[in-house]
Amino acid sequence: MDFYRILIQVTWTGVILAEMVTAAVAAQLAKRNTCQDRCGDVGIPYPFGTTKDCYLDEYFFINCTNSSNGRNPLPYLGNVFVKNISIHGQLDILMYIANDCYNKTGFQSSNRPSLRIPDNFTISNTLNKFVAVGCDTEAILTATRNSKLFYLGCVSTCESISDVIDGSCSGIGWCEVEIPKGLKKFSFGSNSFWNHTRVWSFNPCSSAFVVRKDLFNFSSEYLSSLRYNETVPMVLDWAIGNEPCEYAQTKSGYVCGGNSTCYDSDNGNGYRCRCNEGYDGNPYLHDGCQGIIAALLCTSWLYLVLERRKLIKLKEKYFQQNGGLILEQRLNKSQRGSHETVKIFTAEELKKATKKYDESRIIGRGGFGVVYKGFLSDNRIVAIKKSKTVDERQAEQFINEVVVLSQINHRHIVRLLGCCLETQVPLLVYEFVPKGTLFQYIHQHSSISTLPWEIRLRIATETAEALWYLHSAASPPIIHRDVKSSNILLDDDFTAKVSDFGTSRLVPQDEKLLATVVQGTLGYLDPEYLQTNQLTEKSDVYSFGVVLVELLTGKNVLSSIRPEEERSLAAHFLSFLKKHRLFEILENHIVAEGNEEQIKEFVEIATSCLEVKGEERPTMKEVAIRLDGLRKRKKHPWVNVQSHAVVTENLLAATCVASAEIAGYDSMGPVTLIEYGR
Ligand SMILES: *[C@@H]1O[C@H](CO)[C@@H](O)[C@H](O)[C@H]1NC(C)=O
Ligand SMILES: *[C@@H]1O[C@H](CO)[C@@H](O)[C@H](O)[C@H]1NC(C)=O
Ligand SMILES: *[C@@H]1O[C@H](CO)[C@@H](O)[C@H](O)[C@H]1NC(C)=O
Ligand SMILES: *[C@@H]1O[C@H](CO)[C@@H](O)[C@H](O)[C@H]1NC(C)=O
Ligand SMILES: *[C@@H]1O[C@H](CO)[C@@H](O)[C@H](O)[C@H]1NC(C)=O
Ligand SMILES: *[C@@H]1O[C@H](CO)[C@@H](O)[C@H](O)[C@H]1NC(C)=O
Ligand SMILES: *[C@@H]1O[C@H](CO)[C@@H](O)[C@H](O)[C@H]1NC(C)=O
Ligand SMILES: *[C@@H]1O[C@H](CO)[C@@H](O)[C@H](O)[C@H]1NC(C)=O
Ligand SMILES: *[C@@H]1O[C@H](CO)[C@@H](O)[C@H](O)[C@H]1NC(C)=O
Ligand SMILES: *[C@@H]1O[C@H](CO)[C@@H](O)[C@H](O)[C@H]1NC(C)=O
Repeated sequence: MDFYRILIQVTWTGVILAEMVTAAVAAQLAKRNTCQDRCGDVGIPYPFGTTKDCYLDEYFFINCTNSSNGRNPLPYLGNVFVKNISIHGQLDILMYIANDCYNKTGFQSSNRPSLRIPDNFTISNTLNKFVAVGCDTEAILTATRNSKLFYLGCVSTCESISDVIDGSCSGIGWCEVEIPKGLKKFSFGSNSFWNHTRVWSFNPCSSAFVVRKDLFNFSSEYLSSLRYNETVPMVLDWAIGNEPCEYAQTKSGYVCGGNSTCYDSDNGNGYRCRCNEGYDGNPYLHDGCQGIIAALLCTSWLYLVLERRKLIKLKEKYFQQNGGLILEQRLNKSQRGSHETVKIFTAEELKKATKKYDESRIIGRGGFGVVYKGFLSDNRIVAIKKSKTVDERQAEQFINEVVVLSQINHRHIVRLLGCCLETQVPLLVYEFVPKGTLFQYIHQHSSISTLPWEIRLRIATETAEALWYLHSAASPPIIHRDVKSSNILLDDDFTAKVSDFGTSRLVPQDEKLLATVVQGTLGYLDPEYLQTNQLTEKSDVYSFGVVLVELLTGKNVLSSIRPEEERSLAAHFLSFLKKHRLFEILENHIVAEGNEEQIKEFVEIATSCLEVKGEERPTMKEVAIRLDGLRKRKKHPWVNVQSHAVVTENLLAATCVASAEIAGYDSMGPVTLIEYGR
């Protein structure tokens, strides 16, 4: 089935299940399904209700009427607007401000707010305070406490607005009083001593209100701006009945439901209910408390399952995107008759092998990606290459290469052991080659003598054999496309192993030429390929020629020190040859160790590989055979026998041949070259 369809289906299943779990808990807020459990934005839990059969008694009736604009219904408790109802015994309301206002001639208007449904609600003593604002002001709150009348109040005066400091000094411009416990049935008002005559210009009203402590800071602006029809937030405590649990529990009206506990209200009379630990819901309903742990377990289990599935699906997606199915088919086919096949590693296996891709395991980095050293569980040491992104269209080609490379078993080509397709970018697993790259030995090791002439010749020969094999023995032929000294690895005994087929291309059998986007490394790039975009085996031959020159001279392939037209080592080398100064460009101890004839021919081979026209270059087969012949030829120690002057002379002779070729005088080429080359 299509991956996305599965994912969407799984996600929707999750969403629906999660909603069902939430709903199972939330549905217990109202008394029964037919009861309205919301009014506008406010949840209405039992014992509150909007209709007769939904509230506990009429004192808990919420009048859910349409607002004046007729759209959003608003909940009212008696005459006050309800902002929030908490199942834990609090009620957020908006309460009116009391005002006593004057105009120039005298008294103008006053009001005295009160809560008309008083009995089951107490002013929260912890969250509110009583505040008066004015400069000619006395404010009184009247309430019942233990069924007796109770008064509290404060006085505030000031002479001018400059006496008043924002937020400070109760008594100047404003005053406040803490609320004691147990105040019910309250109303409050404010009065003036001198009809505001002395302060009227900046303070025409005396104001008073009960307000949430955390939502009010005094500001001198209030002296002129508070109006009688404004409201401020305050908190009421609610409880059931007027008896503590001890008595209530024995009586018929006791409301706490199953798996809940009764506790006494700490502000006035009455009791409250609370769900036992591990339960959540509405404790005032018969079976309102639900095992929340079960709900939690269910949701978290569901979450885990979904995440796991997502991960598996993602891995599968990458596997398919990276061509895993094609690979499986190909491997199934090629498995017959072949013992050694590429293994498909799991992402987990390779993560373990590289210590979660630890920095310390990095053995190489480049444009291609990163190479890690890895230890497999069977104690094999491997090199794991994490490539850059492979896009979906390239997947099949990539797989093709993996399959072909997995079947190649050549001494001088790094063996591909397997790959992993479950990650976003495919991971390739190669045999580990301990001594690093030829590049390091030529350019980075302090002692260049670590590579004697004989070994250089051997590395050249082995590399040529590997490329010949790729071009001819493998079917379809493979063009390496990025032959360079840093892609030639050295084994313990300096055996060469060609590596990095990241850019390699398989040449379709019926096409000799392959048009591609030019890829490769500057300094090694075939100039003809650069011009025509036509990739042939001869492009590898050119790059190999550059490697031969590197082996001869030990110089950098690109150098900004050299004159512009000789930046590339190939041009630099050919220019020296042309000027008959080959001797100057050779590395010193090659001259010391090497055999005149060998070096002469090595130079010839390199030069022929660097021909501008691809068709004039020898094939890898010809190059390999010549190099092999060279190795087998008897050595004639050079320095010991001949004097320096003779050496130079001989080399100059070789140079003549080479430069004649460069100039295009093919007919003048030496016989040996023709014999080997064509
Ligand atoms: C609810 O409030 C509206 C508007 O204030 C009022 O007209 C109506 O009578 C109230 N309903 C009850 C049952 O008190
Ligand atoms: C509130 O408004 C809705 C839609 O505007 C209407 O259907 C409903 O009857 C109104 N309710 C009251 C109590 O006015
Ligand atoms: C309502 O009160 C509950 C409990 O005190 C609180 O968690 C919730 O945030 C409040 N909701 C609003 C809109 O104030
Ligand atoms: C002051 O208020 C009283 C009562 O509202 C009104 O009769 C009177 O005209 C007002 N005077 C002025 C100057 O506004
Ligand atoms: C305040 O105004 C009332 C009438 O509005 C008046 O009887 C009273 O004397 C005035 N008091 C002062 C101190 O002016
Ligand atoms: C009141 O002032 C205090 C301290 O300056 C501040 O932390 C708080 O946020 C203020 N409250 C409001 C509602 O402005
Ligand atoms: C308060 O009353 C004034 C006029 O007295 C009016 O302009 C204002 O809109 C009222 N505010 C509210 C919130 O009703
Ligand atoms: C609310 O208060 C009234 C009056 O005191 C009382 O009769 C009634 O039982 C109370 N209701 C609840 C649910 O506590
Ligand atoms: C209390 O919870 C248990 C387990 O969650 C359940 O079996 C039992 O029915 C509940 N009791 C009531 C009265 O809901
Ligand atoms: C490959 O072979 C295995 C068993 O031999 C089989 O389970 C798998 O489905 C095959 N894969 C393909 C893509 O044919």
